[in-house]
Amino acid sequence: MEIKEKFQEHLWDLNAYDGKVYEPKEDTLFFLETLESDLPMIKSLNPATILEIGSGSGLVISSLSEVFRKSFCLAIDINPSACLATVNTSKLNKTSVNAVQGDLINGMVLKNLIDVLIINLIYLPSKSQILDDSTAKAWSGGMDGKAIIERLLPQLNDLMSEKSVGYLLAISNTSPRQIEKMLEGMGFTAGNIQIKTLTSLNYALIRFTKGI
Ligand SMILES: C[S@@+](CC[C@H](N)C(=O)[O-])C[C@H]1O[C@@H](n2cnc3c(N)ncnc32)[C@H](O)[C@@H]1O
Repeated sequence: MEIKEKFQEHLWDLNAYDGKVYEPKEDTLFFLETLESDLPMIKSLNPATILEIGSGSGLVISSLSEVFRKSFCLAIDINPSACLATVNTSKLNKTSVNAVQGDLINGMVLKNLIDVLIINLIYLPSKSQILDDSTAKAWSGGMDGKAIIERLLPQLNDLMSEKSVGYLLAISNTSPRQIEKMLEGMGFTAGNIQIKTLTSLNYALIRFTKGI
């Protein structure tokens, strides 16, 4: 079957979640745009399993599921409303995404199963947004997500399959170069494939690969 090399426009509807789910923003769109330019490479991996950690609305994993129809697409989010939203977005777009509530990959048995990994844990609240306790906890990555990324990185080698690729969105205060160095220290080939300044923040999308 021919695999598409462009994402189609996807639908999402977060009305049912009372402002508790991260609405796709410029970081989400930057992620999608950059990922789109990597679709031929992802396609060459013939991925069996795709995982997004911190799926929010589910727009990114649903877009991948639409392109990689045969892949098992899994989303993890600490926020139960985000898990429901992710499944709903998948249904709206007639794709197939499974979602589980969890703190990163803690408690999951996914040893070397992941061929494609998506990570965007940076939470950028709008100034006017007031978070209740549960929502604030759900977005415990904090403003720059640095602590959470440092907690996740050491687990990646065990998670990724022998031939795999991961994408991690960083902003300048999460020290993208430091993240790349940590990944390289773990045996990944890591580099920043796209940089963009959006709403006065410098975003870097880091790609890391294993066995390719
Ligand atoms: C910036 S939002 C990104 C959402 C989506 N990936 C996007 O691009 O629109 C970050 C998401 O990570 C989730 N998250 C934060 N900490 C997490 C953790 N420890 N484990 C799993 N998900 C987490 C939040 O609930 C939120 O949905």
